[in-house]
Amino acid sequence: MSDFVQRPGALEHTHCTAEQYRRLYQNSLADPDRFWLDQAGRLDWFVAPRTGGNWSYDPVEIKWFEDGTTNLCHNAVDRHLNARGDQPAIIFEPDDPASPSRTLSYAQLFVEVIQMANALKAIGVRRGDRVTIYMPNIVEGVTAMLACARIGAIHSVVFGGFSPEALAGRLTDCDSRFIVTADQAVRGTKPVPLKANVDAALEREGVNVESVLVIRHTGADITMAEGRDHWFHAVASDDDVPCEPMAAEDPLFILYTSGSTGKPKGVLHTTGGYGVWAATTFHYIFDYRQGETYWCTADIGWVTGHSYIVYGPLMNGATSLVFEGVPNHPDFGRFWDVVDKHQVNILYTAPTAIRALMREGDQFVTSRSRASLRLLGSVGEPINPEAWRWYYEVVGESRCPIIDTWWQTETGGCMITTLPGAHDMKPGSAGLPMFGVRPELVDAEGGVLEGEAEGNLCITASWPGQARSVYGDHERFVQTYFSTYPGKYFTGDGCRRDSDGYYWITGRVDDVINVSGHRMGTAEVESALVLHDKVAEAAVVGYPHDIKGQGIYCYVTLNAGEDGSEALEAELRQHVRREIGPIATPDRIQFTDGLPKTRSGKIMRRILRKVAEDDYGSLGDTSTLADPSLVERLIAGRRDS
Ligand code: WTA
Repeated sequence: MSDFVQRPGALEHTHCTAEQYRRLYQNSLADPDRFWLDQAGRLDWFVAPRTGGNWSYDPVEIKWFEDGTTNLCHNAVDRHLNARGDQPAIIFEPDDPASPSRTLSYAQLFVEVIQMANALKAIGVRRGDRVTIYMPNIVEGVTAMLACARIGAIHSVVFGGFSPEALAGRLTDCDSRFIVTADQAVRGTKPVPLKANVDAALEREGVNVESVLVIRHTGADITMAEGRDHWFHAVASDDDVPCEPMAAEDPLFILYTSGSTGKPKGVLHTTGGYGVWAATTFHYIFDYRQGETYWCTADIGWVTGHSYIVYGPLMNGATSLVFEGVPNHPDFGRFWDVVDKHQVNILYTAPTAIRALMREGDQFVTSRSRASLRLLGSVGEPINPEAWRWYYEVVGESRCPIIDTWWQTETGGCMITTLPGAHDMKPGSAGLPMFGVRPELVDAEGGVLEGEAEGNLCITASWPGQARSVYGDHERFVQTYFSTYPGKYFTGDGCRRDSDGYYWITGRVDDVINVSGHRMGTAEVESALVLHDKVAEAAVVGYPHDIKGQGIYCYVTLNAGEDGSEALEAELRQHVRREIGPIATPDRIQFTDGLPKTRSGKIMRRILRKVAEDDYGSLGDTSTLADPSLVERLIAGRRDS
């Protein structure tokens, strides 16, 4: 088809050709157990598994490699010591380009992981405990994750941009008694008071934290609570800490993510299946070659950081760059400076960053060499063809393939993507399913759509990296993902399949919005808004935003006697930032005297979405509204706001 962009001729995939992909994909569907037991050989096991998958979507129970035991810290670190102890494992590039970067060999990473493991043990952490990691994107964030894996503790990384309130919710939900944090984070010279946020979170009711481990990072002045807070450097030691043998189905981590209803869910991943999925997908998709430098610009606070800064690359013995900073500090050329400074070969970033950089013009890119780049990746949201082309032509000079990887916190790793150097690409399409992935498009009633079609994206068979549950609430896991279309995993995404079998993700079809590649439940923002004492009711929807992909649009009704003013708008913005964090800051707030409801009181979000999108031609049937005249007032309000 004419919309193909042919893969750059000089590049072949070293691990897999298009023909091998076809064969491996076929095999993975024909005999998944055999296929995945073979792939499991990528890891070292204490006891090698003999069972592949043992799963059911009704009732929902998912297990992979259940008779195997392993440890992912051993696989990410110890196992490389003989063959590549001196090879760089992590390159750390700080926020301030004038500060020195750091390169840790696998041998040095081992030492730092051991020190962290000793520190965790010293503050009382034991196998099975939940440890909340609230850190900047720095080496100690990575070693904290690996040290947890080493001693069999379950990590729950909370993105450093979340508020004390959001942190408190995530601490109580999994009854976490331990926190690893730093004095401060800095992003683009702006300090983020991590330790002070922790102190504030610990004041909240229900939070039950015994010990806080604090890494000195910026040297900022902080308060330490006697008996509760411990400096890392005071408790760390070099004593030997062996890797705990973990059953494949022992939990590895919890990661909170937003859904369409309620508070964020603690998505639970276990050890063996996640490990095999992260290792296998990294190997095939990023086509990593020994000696190369790989850079994923995500933060360890998101699943992309878990699978593709930490576990995937390190289990493959790669050199993974950890970047503390932001794309626009000191200027919009920072990414390309980092690429040149560390001779980055593989770059994995998000469409929102690409669009933000594209807007600043080509000179920030073309004034840097970028000759080392070989492969470009995109993740987190649909990439618009214009941004794709800019990434391909300007950043990659039409010589680097682009992989547009579709996946989710719940999938553990990439699910749909072309393979670089093996497949031709289509700008805006993620491409083809990874091994073992069976995508299916269904209509609203659950009818299966064949061939070229557009519908809701489900996956009909389990894969090793699939989330196993929602921590502490298996019923919510079942309801959220397996009840809309019984017997299938429902992703929450809309999707089109073209005549070449390529998949095009069209975005969320539920009440989740994707703001700068971050998932945000509209319900969460609504709950935050109504906590404000002047707010009566709130409805939040997404709307197209040039840089962020989607922006946050809030309709707010006020209590009797209150007037919507610019000052109140600013106050509500601040209020949401305080409740959730800066990533949830409303882009637009429209005060309205009512929300469009049916006679039975259900808010018609479709109308709110259309008004927010400035798209009034297709409002659809509004006659079922309790007050049809409200629509005119909403439109007038939109034009004024
Ligand atoms: C969206 C991030 C289109 C999608 C790894 C999904 C994408 C949600 C892509 C998961 C992509 C992620 N193309 N959409 N390549 N990658 N998404 O859990 O809507 O933070 O459901 O995981 O991001 O976001 P999450």
